[in-house]
Parts: sequence; structure tokens; C-alpha cells
Amino acid sequence: MAIPVTKAISKQVIPIFDKPMIYYPLSVLMLAGIREILIISTPRDVLVFQELLGDGKELDLSITYEIQDSPKGLAEAFLIGETFIGKDSVALILGDNLFYGHGFTGMLEKAVKSDIGATIFGYYVKNPKDFGVVEFDKDGKVMSLEEKPENPKSNYAIPGIYFYDNSVIEKAKMVTPSERGELEITSINEMYLKENNLQVISLGRGMAWLDTGTFDGLLEASNFVKTIQSRQGIMIACLEEIAYNKGWIDNRQLLKLSESLRKTTYGEYLLSLVKNHE
Ligand code: G1P
Repeated sequence: MAIPVTKAISKQVIPIFDKPMIYYPLSVLMLAGIREILIISTPRDVLVFQELLGDGKELDLSITYEIQDSPKGLAEAFLIGETFIGKDSVALILGDNLFYGHGFTGMLEKAVKSDIGATIFGYYVKNPKDFGVVEFDKDGKVMSLEEKPENPKSNYAIPGIYFYDNSVIEKAKMVTPSERGELEITSINEMYLKENNLQVISLGRGMAWLDTGTFDGLLEASNFVKTIQSRQGIMIACLEEIAYNKGWIDNRQLLKLSESLRKTTYGEYLLSLVKNHE
């Protein structure tokens, strides 16, 4: 019997072009200046991520791991992560979401600094039915949020990146399972909306938010990354480069990290970033 590839292999370690899928969401957190990261995954996949990323020290990050036993929904992340979050505010990003575009880092920084309880994003798509959907009135005020509606009230999907204040933990505890049996992130967002404590930043048509949930989506995302990287010679989601540019690792550490990958194009790229290498 043929086993579908996505069942046999953890999706987030399938590469998108030249690096594991999880590098893309990790790069977004790093660009937002976030260095304390909790990865939540299945018992099997957590082991793979641990092997790939370790404790994150090599990049001057702190990476820890927790298990979600069954797919009970995104909102459960805040229950599983309660101790990790402590008294802080928190961001959640999904392991299979790819974001790319000019000005995105600025939007992330705005979300991190914001005093508003929740910051989420809106992105115009052809198939809003497949996502959480946000409806705006003519002045751009948020009217409603719906999870995968049969008849979407707008074309604005909510991408898988969310910024919350600490009250998200208490809110997550109040969420009850939806019809599909999941603790929906949209229920949390609705609570913030009711409190008038939610902002939605529009990503704009110049941004790419790519779906990697299907085989077509995966291939399209790989082609997208390859096209941009080939044209510019600049890598998308190169974690070592981001850590270096942020000043979290120095020239020596970058050289060390590039050495073990020397025989790959990824390693060659890292080496090209090292100052004064032969
Ligand atoms: C989840 C969220 C949905 C969001 C989407 C983004 O959907 O429930 O609101 O728009 O991620 O990727 P799921 O991946 O559970 O179908």
C-alpha cells in the first residue's frame, strides 16, 4: 500500500527548495527579534527538530521543545506553552507558513512593540474558505472573524502568525472545541475583538504568503524561493545570516557553522558572508 508522503515524513522537515521548511517560520521569528523559541510538535517530529536545531545556542537562540499529543488545535499551544510564556507576551507562528516581502521586518517589529492585546495579519487570497477570514467595514475597521466559513464575507485570509499579550493564556483556557474538534485560534482572536483589543495589519499585495499544505503548494513555494534566490544571489530564511546580521553571532562563529556545510551551496553561501575568508 502506498503511504502518502506527507504521512510518512514530517511535513516541516520536507525541504522548500534548499532548506527545511521550518527554517522559514523560524527566520520570521528571528527577524522579529524573538530569540526564545518553543517548538511544539508531535512526539515523533519533536525528535527530528531536536536533532536539526538542538538548543539553538549555535545561533545564540534558546530553543526548547514540547509535545502536542494529537492535533487538538492551535489554541492549545498556549496551554502547552503556559510555563514557557510565563508573564511575557508571545508570538505564535505555524511551522508550514512561508512569508516573504519588502517591509515585512518593519511590520513584525510594529507587532512586537504594539500596546494592543493582539496583532494579526490579513492577506488577500482567491480561496478564503480554506482559512480564518477577517471582514472589514469601509473604513477598514474589523467587523468579524470566521474560521473556514462556507460563505466568506471577504477575501482576506488570516495568515499563521499571531502576536498576543499575556492574557492569551487565560483566553485559551476558555476556548471550547469547534465542530472539527479543535481549539481554534480564531476563537481567541474573537475574544480580543470583543474586547476591542485586536489590530489587523494588511500584508498588501506585494507580500508573498505561501501555502505549503499541498503538493502543488510545496512545489510552488520551492520554485518561488529558487527564482528569487537565483536572481539576487541572496538567500531567503538563512538562519545563520540573520543571526549574524543581528549581531547575535560573530565572524568566527559564522565561519565555524559554514565549515561543516562547506560542500553544499548553503555552506558556500555562509562562507561568502564571512569577512576576510580565503
Ligand atoms: C489554521 C488556522 C486558520 C489560518 C491558517 C493559516 O488553519 O485555523 O485560521 O488561516 O491556519 O495557515 P489550519 O492549518 O488549521 O487549517
